[in-house]
Amino acid sequence: MERTLIIFKPDAVQRGLCGEILSRFEKKGLQIAGMKFMKIPRELAETHYAPHKGKPFYDGLVRFMTSSPVVVVAFEGKGAIEISRKMMGATFGFKAEAGTIRGDYGVSSAFNLIHGSDSPESAQRELGLFFKSGELVDWTPTMQSWVYDMSKGSPE
Ligand code: RTP
Ligand code: MG
Repeated sequence: MERTLIIFKPDAVQRGLCGEILSRFEKKGLQIAGMKFMKIPRELAETHYAPHKGKPFYDGLVRFMTSSPVVVVAFEGKGAIEISRKMMGATFGFKAEAGTIRGDYGVSSAFNLIHGSDSPESAQRELGLFFKSGELVDWTPTMQSWVYDMSKGSPE
């Protein structure tokens, strides 16, 4: 099982889309391992997006991410990182395919509703930024044996 760091960005919260977006992940079969509602402190936003420091959109991105509350979620599942990225769609709403979160709910380049870790290394780094050790919960949903084929002892 793999974990990924997802953020419902300020536009998703302000537009009342958190329930819709969370529901997509639940229906897909990813499980919640941690979740918090918060206003991201400037320093945390800067660190989170540090790989983009120096790019023309960096300052605006940090301003946007700290402008209003967000929902931060750790999702868990087999292949959770890649699955989440596919569900999010391309970075810009106007380019994202219909059927994806960005493709269905947004048209903007900057206000693109959701963040998702883009690699196992990013996921580990980002989960560590937003969740203290012990805040992520190990649990087994009762439905797990219907989400995955567990007949060989591991999720297939
Ligand atoms: P995110 O990190 O937020 O999940 O988005 P992403 O992987 O799809 O895109 P990334 O390249 O990591 O960019 C981070 C955020 O910066 C804004 N951006 N603007 N104007 C531009 O060329 C540009 N490129 C990126 C977007 O808001 C993107 O989500
Ligand atoms: Mg990114």
